Amino acid sequence: MKVVTHVSAKPSHYNKESEGYDEFNEHNSQIINRTIETLLRKYNVKTVLDITCGTGSQVFYLHKHGYQVVGADFNAKMLAIAKQKAKKENLKITFLKCDMRTARIGEFDAVITIFNAIGHLTKNDFEQALNSISVNLNKNSIYIFDIFNRRYLEHADTITKLTIDWQTTVGKITTRKIQYSTIDDAGILTSNTITLQQSGKKTKINQDVQTLQTYSAQELKQLLTEHGFKVVHQSAIDGATFDDKRSERILVVAQKK
Ligand SMILES: C[S@@+](CC[C@H](N)C(=O)[O-])C[C@H]1O[C@@H](n2cnc3c(N)ncnc32)[C@H](O)[C@@H]1O
Repeated sequence: MKVVTHVSAKPSHYNKESEGYDEFNEHNSQIINRTIETLLRKYNVKTVLDITCGTGSQVFYLHKHGYQVVGADFNAKMLAIAKQKAKKENLKITFLKCDMRTARIGEFDAVITIFNAIGHLTKNDFEQALNSISVNLNKNSIYIFDIFNRRYLEHADTITKLTIDWQTTVGKITTRKIQYSTIDDAGILTSNTITLQQSGKKTKINQDVQTLQTYSAQELKQLLTEHGFKVVHQSAIDGATFDDKRSERILVVAQKK
């Protein structure tokens, strides 16, 4: 079996996914967006930097709920979709192209990186991103993110719950996506995907391997503490009490010390 090494995602990583991204994502993000907004209200946040905004799911949600939000991402295609959506709705929102490991945008009450975005980084690069996030925060302000819970994925056969097998038809093209995942001793989640696209008698087959770094709640506490943050909240993405073996993702609020 080929050994896959986890490296931080390149800016082009979402080029292929960008087109169909909203169709797949909008429904999934409803729950977490509501929880994030509740947390932002609790911490009296007014200004937000979404530093991995993608097509803008959280940016638009929070803008509509009265927050002053700036969206940033390092993928040009995801950003172009976000900008197009803002233009269509006549919303004046700033979107910037930058890397969360080096971005210096301003000082905000909160920085967010949602939907496993930091899983795209190696541990070292996550540490670099934490330093950069800290620079973009006011004192005592908060960093909110979610990430796959390593302990959940390592527990019994829960990894099989990530298996995907779906089919959708748009116009004359039928797409079937089959994905299975494994997790190794370092908490690297590897997802193998086969995508088949059928148009009339022609079938295109694409094989892809993606990796994500996962963390346990305890590992995150340690890492954040070492980088000048205090963890003030860990829950499931719907805000429910976090359970090491049952919560698929960990939602974290870390306060800059
Ligand atoms: C799963 S998407 C999430 C987007 C959005 N937050 C959402 O919930 O739909 C992850 C995003 O992180 C971005 N990303 C990954 N690494 C990044 C980095 N180093 N700097 C900036 N953006 C990055 C990707 O380009 C992608 O748009």
